[in-house]
Amino acid sequence: MRQQIVAGNWKMNKTLEEGVELTKAILDKINQPKGLVVVAPPLTHLQEIGRLLSTKKSFHLSAQNCHQEEKGAYTGEVSADMLVSVGCSFVILGHSERRQYFKESNATLAAKVNISLAKGLRPIFCCGEPLNIRETETHVAYVAKQLKASLFHLSETEFRKVVIAYEPIWAIGTGKTASSLQAQEMHKSIRDLVAKKYGKAVANDTTILYGGSCNAQNAAELFAQPDVDGGLIGGASLKADDFAVIVGALK
Ligand code: 13P
Repeated sequence: MRQQIVAGNWKMNKTLEEGVELTKAILDKINQPKGLVVVAPPLTHLQEIGRLLSTKKSFHLSAQNCHQEEKGAYTGEVSADMLVSVGCSFVILGHSERRQYFKESNATLAAKVNISLAKGLRPIFCCGEPLNIRETETHVAYVAKQLKASLFHLSETEFRKVVIAYEPIWAIGTGKTASSLQAQEMHKSIRDLVAKKYGKAVANDTTILYGGSCNAQNAAELFAQPDVDGGLIGGASLKADDFAVIVGALK
């Protein structure tokens, strides 16, 4: 069955103390969500925040990245095993900020997807086009290429564990949201692509989240679209009230 999910990507925000406070407020304000609530704090906070999240049903801990190698001499990096050992069940992979600032390629991301799945983490795999690609109306092909290159080598069983997040880069942190029709168009094309590769049943069960200036005001309209199964939230996930409204907008 297709899961509805709202995931909060805190990015590089909040000290541990602030993060704990935010998590407590989130847990306090969100009761009986219609889907899963995933919180992705910075690495340093995972264990403590994971402990808080584990006290309530439907709440899950995610990392924002992991290294593609199992272990070894990779100073400053963190492995999938380590993330599992502190309670993560999800990991965000392929965020446009990682692709842009840390030069993560489709091939590197395929390796990160592989190690995550092998270690029992569910990837929240991000895709999305920059503004110039949207302007030349080649966004559907651009996103298809990202997905094919990093995900379509997976077996059906593996693919079923992946959550896809469509995040148009021009909408991230800009206050410029994709319209619900633009989101629906892309989400439908992603689902069709998955159907072509893995069949209709798998496509129908695939969770596809929208991300990019999704907030308390526009979440309900976005989530009402038939192929939008929730959101990956940046800025608005840093405010418990707003995040709770967004979770409440799940269908
Ligand atoms: P904003 O919600 O701040 O636009 O960020 C979206 C995002 O990048 C989530 O991963």
